[in-house]
Amino acid sequence: MLPVYILGIETSCDETAAAVVRDGEAVASNVIASQIAIHRQYGGVVPEVASRQHLEKVTEVVAAALSGAGLGFGDLSGVAVTAGPGLIGALLVGVASAKAYAYAQQIPLLAVHHLEAHLCANFLAYPDLRPPFITLIVSGGHTSLVLVREHLVYEMLGATRDDAAGEAFDKVARLLGLPYPGGPNLEVLAQGGDPQAVAFPRAWLGEGSLDFSFSGLKTAVQNYLKRGGQARAEDVAASFQMAVADVLAAKALAAARQNGVSKIALAGGVAANSTIRNLLQSRAEREGFNCYFPPKELCTDNAAMVACAGYYYFLAQRFAALNQEAFANYPLVRQH
Ligand code: KG4
Ligand code: ZN
Repeated sequence: MLPVYILGIETSCDETAAAVVRDGEAVASNVIASQIAIHRQYGGVVPEVASRQHLEKVTEVVAAALSGAGLGFGDLSGVAVTAGPGLIGALLVGVASAKAYAYAQQIPLLAVHHLEAHLCANFLAYPDLRPPFITLIVSGGHTSLVLVREHLVYEMLGATRDDAAGEAFDKVARLLGLPYPGGPNLEVLAQGGDPQAVAFPRAWLGEGSLDFSFSGLKTAVQNYLKRGGQARAEDVAASFQMAVADVLAAKALAAARQNGVSKIALAGGVAANSTIRNLLQSRAEREGFNCYFPPKELCTDNAAMVACAGYYYFLAQRFAALNQEAFANYPLVRQH
């Protein structure tokens, strides 16, 4: 059989990314133009600036992805793009470009969900991984527990009721005076800290609940710092990080137990965090569950994961029309 090459395009937030993936598992190229340096001076992502940057970069990033893969447009079987959720102006740049490439080549357009793309990073890292499995998607905008019943068939088990895990990392990092992006900088600071130093609260939200809440934890850190708490910044960072890891690991395991599933896959930018990975791994091992973690560069936003998700749309012949829209809010599980 001829190989299926899918071009993926990702512009939902502050990374302009394009990648080519063969047969849904082999990353032929993975190009990312990061805007971090630009947004850092504002302390966070400025949506209008992000859109303009995507517009400036998307063509060259796509060209670099193709040349990196040693392919031309004529070798592609389809073009996958993140259609939502995300910053609407940013998403529109990717969706408009993907439509143009698909139309010019007369190949299918594949519209994927950003969280679906994140969870697909696991298929790139573990080509033998098969549903069903639980996935915990932890990013700047989302904290979701999802049962992947089969490819493209999901059941939402729980989600955050307020701040996403990454948002909590970013806000607490800011309270600690760390530059954007907060999460990775907080992790570095926490390396020298004691995770037991401060007993920050965990929001369990009642017996059996698989929902999350992180705004109370963020406020607890804020109050601790306002009161002039004695712990060093390293200890505050480590204690906060452990409070997040504790709840994430406990609920991911509870989801696996409740659904009789033995595999748990982490995904999303926050899945790059070693404390969260290690805690989940050690607790999962004790109960005989298998854990899956994509390499860190596939956890944070990239287009290889988008191309991988697009491959499953391609196989299922779920093609998007050329009037495909972008959606700032976009549920993973849509009501039909
Ligand atoms: O998935 P992602 O790249 O973009 C979204 O879809 O949101 O996730 C970005 C989020 C940010 O909140 C960032 O601070 C967080 O992931 N993050 C981390 C780490 N690396 C990225 N949080 C904790 N520890 C990390 N090492
Ligand atoms: Zn993301």
